[in-house]
Amino acid sequence: MTLSSAPGKVYLFGEHAVVYGEPAVPCAIERRARVGVERRDDGRLRVHAEDLSLDGFTVEYGATTDDRPDVNVSESLLTAATQYVDSAIEQVRDVTGDDEVGFDVTIESDIPLGAGLGSSAAVAVAAIDAGTRALGTTLEPDELAERAYRTEYDVQEGQASRADTFCSATGGAVRVEGDDCRSLESPDLPIVIGFDGGAGDTGELVAGVRGLREQYEFAADTVEAIGDVVRNGEDALAAGDLEEVGRLMNFNHGLLSALGVSSRSLDAMVWAARDADALGAKLTGAGGGGCIVALDPTPETETALSFTPGCENAFRAALTGEGVKRLE
Ligand code: PMV
Repeated sequence: MTLSSAPGKVYLFGEHAVVYGEPAVPCAIERRARVGVERRDDGRLRVHAEDLSLDGFTVEYGATTDDRPDVNVSESLLTAATQYVDSAIEQVRDVTGDDEVGFDVTIESDIPLGAGLGSSAAVAVAAIDAGTRALGTTLEPDELAERAYRTEYDVQEGQASRADTFCSATGGAVRVEGDDCRSLESPDLPIVIGFDGGAGDTGELVAGVRGLREQYEFAADTVEAIGDVVRNGEDALAAGDLEEVGRLMNFNHGLLSALGVSSRSLDAMVWAARDADALGAKLTGAGGGGCIVALDPTPETETALSFTPGCENAFRAALTGEGVKRLE
């Protein structure tokens, strides 16, 4: 078995606006997807997934998607596990030139699915890393990020930025603007996450913002204002000024709300964090449901969130400087 893991991420600043060329700053958190692969000689893929915040399941299918049997699992679960793995293994075949290779693939993840924490990027990064290593090729983080980006791009039909996959492959805080991705110096951040147990539909939410931006100049201005918040946020991170980082996160959440991508439960968690004197709080990722990220060096926010109606789970997540990890 060849085993790799890759971290999830939170957006400190800039989701949605990044789709229109503004910068964004995601940072990797110590919550990981682990993907183990074992080569098969019959060219088939067998995917076994557990702990994906949903029921464990096993799916067996051939090298092409047409060859899939009907399986009694939700479409989102299939998408999350098998489509990303399928496409990631295509990248492995492309890198290694071994078009016929098949694998037994096991996924374990402690990143909630589709909740703004980059679960699919982490699965794609870890699967490509494990698959290529199993065939004797070790990719540099930049190339791994690029291959994982292509995986997301394929599965999400062109609706993907490089942010999640670059962040997951390299770890740490990163700055993404268009095709330009680089690591950022960041102070240690006291990150608390609140999860409402749900997930947003990224495609729908991105389309909603696109529509607003086309219809109203003030919505286009809101997207640009998010870019300004991000640039200020970078300065605050470089200066190690956590209070300013928090203030700007609050601002960023307000602008995302104006663009219609927050929800009652996300707002309730953001306000619970602010009432607990968090330095700042905002939704992370596409929104609509899923997770918020707050900054709080004290235990107050985590406690407050655990009593907040609509919050299913609250946890602290350390920033990690370690991207892909080669475990076996
Ligand atoms: O919810 P996530 O983690 O997939 O993040 C989506 C971020 C968006 O900016 C809304 C879309 C994108 O691809 O950048």
